[in-house]
Amino acid sequence: MNLHAIASLSDAPQSAAVICLLSIKSGSDTFGTVSSASYDESWAKAGKKNLISHEGRTLICLGMGDAPTLEHYRKAAHTVFSTASGWGMNEVTVVSEALSDDQAQAFVEGAILSAYRFTRHVSNPTPEVLTDLYLVGYSEAAIQTGSVTAAAASEARDLVNEPPNVLTATKLATEAKRIGEKYGFTTEILEMSKIQSLKMGGLLAVNAGSVEPPTFTIMEYKPENPINDQPVVLVGKGVVYDTGGLSLKPTANSMDFMKCDMAGGAAVIGAMCGVAGLGLNVHVIGLVPATDNRPGLNAWAPGDIITMYDGTTVENFNSDAEGRMLLADALSYAKQYNPSLVIDLATLTGAQVVAIGQPGMALMATAEDETIANMDAAGHHTYERVVRLPLWEEYGDMLKSEIADIKNLGPRQAGSITAGKFLQHFTDYPWIHLDIAGPAWSPQPDSYRGQGGTGVGVRMLIQFLKEM
Ligand code: BES
Ligand code: MN
Ligand code: ZN
Repeated sequence: MNLHAIASLSDAPQSAAVICLLSIKSGSDTFGTVSSASYDESWAKAGKKNLISHEGRTLICLGMGDAPTLEHYRKAAHTVFSTASGWGMNEVTVVSEALSDDQAQAFVEGAILSAYRFTRHVSNPTPEVLTDLYLVGYSEAAIQTGSVTAAAASEARDLVNEPPNVLTATKLATEAKRIGEKYGFTTEILEMSKIQSLKMGGLLAVNAGSVEPPTFTIMEYKPENPINDQPVVLVGKGVVYDTGGLSLKPTANSMDFMKCDMAGGAAVIGAMCGVAGLGLNVHVIGLVPATDNRPGLNAWAPGDIITMYDGTTVENFNSDAEGRMLLADALSYAKQYNPSLVIDLATLTGAQVVAIGQPGMALMATAEDETIANMDAAGHHTYERVVRLPLWEEYGDMLKSEIADIKNLGPRQAGSITAGKFLQHFTDYPWIHLDIAGPAWSPQPDSYRGQGGTGVGVRMLIQFLKEM
């Protein structure tokens, strides 16, 4: 889809259908710039759709309600996209009240993300209906920022949607490299022999049942004079497929969408795209430990004691609690960078889905309250919201092992928190853990978030890093 910034309606081609976004506050002014037909205030009601015919021209009016938020603009963009596509319109001009750059960016993001499709493996995909969007009064800067941000989220979606027989750990790493060359960050890939010599016991244990080697991808974006002396490190779970290993997933159909178990890694790669693509002045490092988790002749077994990268011994109580094993090694590895902040993202627990579901991510953290408040604000800004869970010491006690330093499984209660406590053991810096098991995957179409991989976390991280 091509986006065009135009100064006024007269710069749009006659052939383009006109869609008016009307808010209660200035709907009549907006409408007046398009048509001299008399304006009806009820058209501006939230969710209202009206077709106005005047002087041979058809206008589509979308009501934005009283005080449209950024999310209303993203959703309005989805309505514009689906309405236009449904009616076979190839070109659309959008007229609204004067928008701030944030609002214009939100609309652009919503439009591009609504147009997202995963058609790589379809022989003859149906062509895109809506090809050109003319945006009256939008700044080039807002269009550019929105386009890069939406493209970054789309990269994450592509990675999540890629099936597990294509996206092996090696492919995830080489994709990160390919994408890095496109957006402008560097990529180093640690392969099996290096991972072995580093003794990344957590990653190697999960990989033991696989016929595919693991990878550990290190990405870096470092501008000349970054605002941070110490880097921000992003860590993403890269389990390209999770069967549960020898503790084979017990819940019916729960394996069906487990290609999404690298969504944390995809979010880290997507965020790197955004940071580099927008040229943000922050030094950011991304780490993605990757493997699939399968039962195999040599698979790690419940009862095993694993020596991790940092020397901690872990008693395996359940081979389906694999994400924390490779994340732990990556979190220990992050210490060498003397980071100002480490943020990890992981589809870590079914308990997160039960507690919060799709609308939000679970946040657990040792970072300062101000940092958390900034992330909370970035979450509301982008509508990729976080909700905080505690890391009280009692939850840590639930991971005590009789025969090793720690075990990888707590009791049934507080499953997301005990997973967070497990990770905390491997950190010694300000840290934020985001469990994205619910929001990473959308089984049904969900406005501009689409269906399948959502790319959750990418836009929030970009916004958070931009405001640093
Ligand atoms: N990848 C799953 C978590 C998950 C569940 C992601 C639903 C996306 C949607 C994770 O590896 C897992 O299996 N977690 C177990 C942990 C348990 C064995 C402690 C879970 O939550 O059941
Ligand atoms: Mn699992
Ligand atoms: Zn998993």
